[in-house]
Formats: sequence, structure tokens, C-alpha cells
Amino acid sequence: MIELDLTTRLASLKLKNPVITASGTCGYGEELKEYLDPDIPGAITVKGLTIKPSVGNPAPRITETPAGILNSIGLENPGLEEFLATKLSVIGKLNVPVLVNISGHSLDDFAFLAEKLAPYPQIAGLEVNVSCPNLAGGGMAFGTDSELVYRVAYRVKENYPGPVIIKLTPNVTDIVEMAEAAVAGGADIISLINTLLAMAIDIDDKRPLLGNTFGGLSGPAIKPVALRMVYQVASRVKIPIIGMGGIMTGRDAIEFILAGASAVAVGTATLIDPGAVARIIEEIKEYMIEKEIKRIKDLIGQAL
Ligand code: SIN
Repeated sequence: MIELDLTTRLASLKLKNPVITASGTCGYGEELKEYLDPDIPGAITVKGLTIKPSVGNPAPRITETPAGILNSIGLENPGLEEFLATKLSVIGKLNVPVLVNISGHSLDDFAFLAEKLAPYPQIAGLEVNVSCPNLAGGGMAFGTDSELVYRVAYRVKENYPGPVIIKLTPNVTDIVEMAEAAVAGGADIISLINTLLAMAIDIDDKRPLLGNTFGGLSGPAIKPVALRMVYQVASRVKIPIIGMGGIMTGRDAIEFILAGASAVAVGTATLIDPGAVARIIEEIKEYMIEKEIKRIKDLIGQAL
């Protein structure tokens, strides 16, 4: 039996394996503990945080599609004050790096959150969400303008000493332009992709099905798009990439790693099977044994 090394690096972060929980799909880590030991993932990304609490968008906020789901949650979250008062102690008990996803309506919002979260060692890094399709006056509006991507990255880096991940949206013509803007702004890591802007219509009511009309499509339907974008970005930028978008199996994860991702994030799969992350890690190991690969790092970017 070969000794497997699943460790990977994301800038200054060392992960024991390359599978991260995607933001918004595992709460604050402990909600899933009945199904997924929170010490198993390589890292945990918590739900997107805004300065003020948010109740999110009107229902219905989630619907199934033939090969994925549509969500228009609208960043429901307790807000910074409540997060610091009640959630920080929860994530402080976890034994894996915890990444906090932050969102805002202005550059100052991002800078403010970065500054307020900087003192807490319980937080291993920030994932900066410039890609939420469900936020009026923020979110994706930043991620579709390379000048704004640059400025958000710059302002967060100015205020936060730890690793900064910029999470990109696929709803752009040129994903490489956005990735390069993030790098120019000082990003340490890029994560991609967030969801694809989409919709569904209720043909009985003759109305958009989601309360917010549009939502973000995730799941297996978007995997080929996500993989293409990871490949394009990895071909051009030198900082580490977290690949995500429709990863359901270990073999899907391996595709992203071969395309240049140093780690992957799993989201929709967890909504179907809350233990998916553990299964995917085992499936990655099976592939490595089958192909006699000792170190996962040796696979990064092999398809480029
Ligand atoms: C949401 O809360 O609307 C989803 C978050 C996102 O897509 O970034």
C-alpha cells in the first residue's frame, strides 16, 4: 500500500487535503457534524458575511433543475456583530482552517469587514465574494468590472494581513482579465467559479419561479464551464486557485486539479449528500492508488 500525501498549499495556508467546503453549504462547520466530521475537510468556508444582518431574498429561493440547482438566497446571514458574538467561538473549536466569505455593497464595506476580522486568529483567511448574483448593488456587480475587482482586492489586502482569496463570477466575457485584476490588486489566491446567472419559470403561474426572478445555477450542469475557466486562469496567473463548480465525485475533483487548481471546493454535492466531502476525499485517494500517485501536488496543472 503506498503512503499518500494529500497535503496542498494555498499561499501561506497548508491544507491536509485539497477538498474545501464551499461557502453557504455547510453553515459554520458544526451544523453538518452528524453527517460530516468537521475535521475531515481540508478547510471550511463559512456563509457569506455582510456588515449588517440580512434576511435574504423573498421565497422561493431554491429550485431544482435537471442537472443542478438554482438559488437566490441573497446572502442571508447574521451580520458582523452577531458573527463575532456567537459564530467566532464555534469556528474557533474547529481543527481545520476556516475561511470567512465576505460580501459588500461598496469598496468601503469590503475594507471595513477586512479590518474588523483581521484581529481574529480563529479565521485562517478571507474569501472575498465579488460574484454573488443575488445581491442588488453589490456582489457580482464588482466581479464583472476588472477595475473594481482590482480595487476590492487592493482595499481588502490593505486591511487584512492574512491570505486573501478573490472569488470570481463566471458571468463575464473574459475570466482571465478578472483574475489578472485580482492578482494586480494583491490577491493571494483565486477561487472560481461562483454560480451562473439563470432562471426558471413556473408555467402554471406563468411567472418566474424564484422570488427574486433570477438566481445562480450550480451543480453538474456548470462543471464543464468551471473547468474551462480554471484551466484558462491557471494558464495565465501564478497564484494558487481553488476550483469549484459542479464537483460531485473524486474524479471531478481530479479534473480540476489537473486543470491547475491547488484545491477544490464542494457545494451543491453537500446539499444532496451532507457527507459528500468525506466521500470525495476517499475517491481522490482511490484514484491516486489506482494511478500510483503518491503526492496530490504532483497532479496540479498536469493537463495544462
Ligand atoms: C446567496 O446567498 O445568494 C448565494 C451566495 C453567492 O452566490 O455568492
